[in-house]
Amino acid sequence: MPNKIKTIGVLTSGGDSPGMNAAVRSVVRKAIFEGIAVKGILRGYEGMIKGEVIDMNSRSVSNILGRGGTILKTARSKEFMTETGQEKAVRVIKDHEIDGLVIIGGNGSFQGAHILHDKWGVPNIGIPGTIDNDLGYTDYTVGSHTSVDTVLDAVDKIRDTVTSMERIYVVEVMGRKEPYIAVMAGLAGGAEEILYPGSEISIERIKKEIDSAEKSGKMSWIIIVSEGYGKAAEIAAQLEENTKYNVRGITLGHVQRGGKPNAPDRILASRMGAFAVSALMEGISDHMVAVRSMELKLVPYEKACFEREKDIEFHRQLYDLTKLLAT
Ligand code: F6P
Repeated sequence: MPNKIKTIGVLTSGGDSPGMNAAVRSVVRKAIFEGIAVKGILRGYEGMIKGEVIDMNSRSVSNILGRGGTILKTARSKEFMTETGQEKAVRVIKDHEIDGLVIIGGNGSFQGAHILHDKWGVPNIGIPGTIDNDLGYTDYTVGSHTSVDTVLDAVDKIRDTVTSMERIYVVEVMGRKEPYIAVMAGLAGGAEEILYPGSEISIERIKKEIDSAEKSGKMSWIIIVSEGYGKAAEIAAQLEENTKYNVRGITLGHVQRGGKPNAPDRILASRMGAFAVSALMEGISDHMVAVRSMELKLVPYEKACFEREKDIEFHRQLYDLTKLLAT
């Protein structure tokens, strides 16, 4: 089939993630290699509505492979959720003669992308860029590896002080409702406990465990709590209630979104960017690029956003192993 795409638009949308720049670079350079012009759309769907469109060439993406954040800026757009907002955005796409989009973002961004395809006939392919790793049918999302590294770095540092002062620290990590960051960083950081959405561990049970561990000489604990489970400060206060424990709550917050993307994220982003351009050239739309067992695939947005076929058992296994190894 001859390629009908002459101009591609690329945007980053929703919460930024480390590796988004690497994905933008790959999209731009692959498209140019294929003789396709590239326009960058700034500030996600917000910028699309406002017509914030720039011409891009190979030099526009020089030296960004290892930079965190996104040179295209990003935003969460309320206006794009309205019919009027979408109409304005589509007008901008048409005015700039953009034939297809590569949308780098997460769950909310892909629901918007699906509407662009389904209701407005704008072809587009998504690249999963979110630290949360909360999309279906993909093993990883761009940024998920780096954010686990960032949490791990913090946990290792917290370990130094928690061991020295023989305290209990409750460390809250991001991830929306997805346990991924919590269980990965928990296992890698040797956490004594992980609380994530779906956990059924009561505060009373943790207190009992802390008491019995003390008898075997364990005097310090790191408890990782996923933001989808609860707040570090509140859990710390509950743990301290009527006990002799010295408990601190720490929320790691947005540091988890920043920093240089690590090698796995740069590699994933670079592979997915070029793959997305090829998919558009083949006339495919309404799909997200996914990675399964190292292989790139295309998954319909509706499955990626709404079907979570994976993980409950996997998270459980990681949790059990973390507990076993923390005795
Ligand atoms: O989706 C990425 C993420 O960092 C989540 O982990 C977190 O819940 C949310 O975004 C925070 O959003 P904001 O930056 O808008 O506060």
